[in-house]
Amino acid sequence: MDDFYRYNQTSLKINLLFKRELLNNIYMHRYLRRTVCKILPALLLMAVLITDGIFAERSFSQTPDGTQLFQACAACHSIGKGKLIGPDLYQVTQRRDRKWLMKFIRNSQEMVQSGDAIAVKLFEDHNKIPMPPYTYSDEQINAILGYIENFNPDQAAAAPVTQEVTEDQKTAKEEFFADTEDHTRQFGTTFIISLILLLAAAFDLFVTKLIKARFVNVIVILISAFVITEITVVEAKNLGRQPGYAPDQPILFSHKIHAGDNKTDCKYCHTTVTESKHAGIPSVNLCMNCHTAVRSGRNTGTVEIEKIYKALETGKPVEWIRVHNLPDHTYFNHAQHVSAGKVQCEQCHGDVKTVDRIQQVQQLSMGWCIDCHRKTQVQFTENGYYQKFVRLHEELKSGKRTRVTVEDVGGTECSKCHY
Ligand code: HEC
Ligand code: HEC
Ligand code: HEC
Ligand code: HEC
Ligand code: HEC
Ligand code: HEC
Repeated sequence: MDDFYRYNQTSLKINLLFKRELLNNIYMHRYLRRTVCKILPALLLMAVLITDGIFAERSFSQTPDGTQLFQACAACHSIGKGKLIGPDLYQVTQRRDRKWLMKFIRNSQEMVQSGDAIAVKLFEDHNKIPMPPYTYSDEQINAILGYIENFNPDQAAAAPVTQEVTEDQKTAKEEFFADTEDHTRQFGTTFIISLILLLAAAFDLFVTKLIKARFVNVIVILISAFVITEITVVEAKNLGRQPGYAPDQPILFSHKIHAGDNKTDCKYCHTTVTESKHAGIPSVNLCMNCHTAVRSGRNTGTVEIEKIYKALETGKPVEWIRVHNLPDHTYFNHAQHVSAGKVQCEQCHGDVKTVDRIQQVQQLSMGWCIDCHRKTQVQFTENGYYQKFVRLHEELKSGKRTRVTVEDVGGTECSKCHY
């Protein structure tokens, strides 16, 4: 009897304890929720401000103006000043047929491969350096050829080949490659201290209750929770899993100048993007295709380009820092998206042509991948690979279905993206 009574008493006590714990929990929950509600808008605002600053793009006009368009060619061609990487273009319109020129400028490699005798000879004579393809309109090519025809090499002032960085260039450089984030902060100790404080305060609040004024504990918990969140967010960014990640690169390489202003095709440098899993980062040898001749840039003078020669001399490859990085357990393939899926680089990497510094603009989260797979149609009838989806083909024929998305062909199955 006694035992039974005692047993009941204890269980009652335990019950009460649990209730109080529960109330405490609810109390904490509300408190946390309220503070989170307060902190979140501030965090969001910060994020918007940071990304806004990065995204603020500089406009550049694009009229079919021969002088301006020729800038893209000037890296490799002179007019009347001799051979650079490509042949001197002086009087090229007289030695070649206009139709041939149009075709050659649009895609010289296609002509080389199709066995055009002149194109093959030119290619062989120039150490098999391919001229990048240009998607120009007739109007634009005519503007360039017009500029070449009317160019008088004797009158044109000799452009300085090398120049030191001027004050203007320095500010331009700082502005262009402005650091957005200090990625070298050391957080380990702060993180651990905050975590210990948080746990200690929580333990005291619920269990030991040494500090009578409860708000002290609550404040300690809130502050350390905030610090921990802040650190986690920044560290996650450093892992490259957050949009906005844009590390300092060993050479201030600008996509705006190369892919934008000079219109060099992405595939000229990221050579494997259409046929392999990886897009690939170019070696300095490829940079040298142009930089044997281009020894100075408008923003950084000779400083940054020198680093290419240095890397070549020492044979030490440039240690580019990876911007986009999926965790090891995921599988992503560029060729599948770029060649088969016809997805544009911009959809996943943002408008690379307009930025100096590459940054991660998309989440690269699982939700992001799947969201696009649900929305995007595959090239279903054109791609032989999809022959095997008999049911889908029938449904499409009978009009039961109007479209086939990546999801329909299995693009949301775990095993497609996870090893
Ligand atoms: C990366 C360097 C590079 C750039 C940039 C470049 N070219 Fe070329 N170009 C070459 C090379 C190299 C050749 C020689 C053929 C070959 O190797 O395929 C060539 C050949 C030519 C020829 C044939 C010349 C001849 O004697 O028949 C023309 C015309 C030409 N380029 C025009 C242009 C125009 C116009 C532009 C700018 C829109 C341009 N190129 C940009 C490297 C370049
Ligand atoms: C469907 C989205 C998507 C498209 C389209 C896409 N990429 Fe990527 N890219 C990624 C992802 C995701 C990564 C990270 C891959 C990893 O960590 O394995 C990446 C990584 C890269 C890298 C780093 C090196 C490498 O090979 O992983 C380069 C360079 C690159 N992409 C260039 C390009 C270019 C150029 C294009 C267009 C021709 C392009 N990408 C199209 C999603 C895409
Ligand atoms: C197709 C030709 C071409 C290739 C390939 C090329 N560049 Fe350039 N690069 C240029 C031209 C042209 C300029 C000068 C732009 C200007 O300032 O007008 C330039 C400028 C630069 C600058 C100076 C930017 C500035 O404004 O100060 C750097 C740094 C640079 N390139 C690095 C590289 C690296 C690294 C590679 C190889 C990954 C490379 N380039 C490959 C044509 C090329
Ligand atoms: C002249 C060569 C060149 C051209 C042209 C070029 N890139 Fe790049 N790209 C590079 C180099 C070098 C890097 C590594 C340095 C960096 O990240 O800025 C790079 C890096 C990248 C990355 C980041 C890879 C990573 O670390 O995750 C992406 C994405 C990318 N390029 C996309 C493009 C796209 C899209 C285009 C066409 C619009 C393009 N590139 C044109 C040379 C080039
Ligand atoms: C902008 C849209 C888009 C995004 C973002 C995207 N994909 Fe895709 N993905 C496609 C398209 C379109 C295809 C179909 C390609 C084809 O026709 O074979 C595809 C196909 C695939 C396939 C092959 C599916 C199958 O059934 O064979 C895999 C695997 C894949 N994607 C992985 C990823 C991963 C991982 C990510 C995120 C890191 C991602 N994708 C992000 C558009 C996208
Ligand atoms: C279209 C490609 C795709 C498909 C389909 C997909 N995942 Fe993922 N998954 C990813 C990517 C990319 C990541 C990495 C995201 C990140 O790190 O934020 C990921 C992350 C994860 C993670 C988190 C691991 C971590 O590091 O945090 C788990 C768990 C996971 N996936 C399980 C699944 C399961 C279960 C399925 C099937 C229902 C599935 N995934 C289907 C692309 C995919």
